[in-house]
Amino acid sequence: MNNLSFIRVHALHRHFQMGTEMVHALDGVDATIEQGDFMGIVGPSGSGKSTLLYLIGGLDQPTSGEIWVDGTDIAALDENGLAQYRQKSIGFIFQSFNLIPTMTAMQNVEFPMIFARVLPQEREARAKQALEMVGLGDSTSSQTNRAFRRAAAARLHCPVAGEQSRHHFGR
Ligand SMILES: Nc1ncnc2c1ncn2[C@@H]1O[C@H](COP(=O)(O)OP(=O)(O)O)[C@@H](O)[C@H]1O
Ligand SMILES: [Mg+2]
Repeated sequence: MNNLSFIRVHALHRHFQMGTEMVHALDGVDATIEQGDFMGIVGPSGSGKSTLLYLIGGLDQPTSGEIWVDGTDIAALDENGLAQYRQKSIGFIFQSFNLIPTMTAMQNVEFPMIFARVLPQEREARAKQALEMVGLGDSTSSQTNRAFRRAAAARLHCPVAGEQSRHHFGR
């Protein structure tokens, strides 16, 4: 298949066993997203939107099918591969804050860079720059949900956002 598109899912299935019932959350989904596309997924509750986002975001693994992102089939990655993929390529914009409340804004922004083995001085510089980009350069304590989501979306290769988050892109 053509995997040159930025994101391409092919024959994607995600089934959940619920007691004796099998829930077919996704049943043969095909989709293509080009770099720079801004895509919204709409559908009734329970139609599989979140399931699809979790799969593209590397938070879940499909029952079968292919998920090509930037040249790699992430459906074929193991747990370690998926963890690296999430760290390097994916930004999640959750509906709730998911910030660490005991940390300052600066520490929250620096935190994922610790796992990416960025050295302290560079971490601090990059966090400061990111906060300045969203007008939070002089802040040290808890900050708004909106500003953090914008900061997350601004630097990422592939932001993945659920429901209400669309407001935070200003579209
Ligand atoms: N972890 C899970 N275990 C069992 N069933 C699930 C799970 N996640 C989702 N489902 C089911 O899959 C279907 C699609 O759910 P979901 O992707 O959350 O839909 P949407 O986001 O469009 O509302 C629903 O029937 C839901 O109950
Ligand atoms: Mg949902």
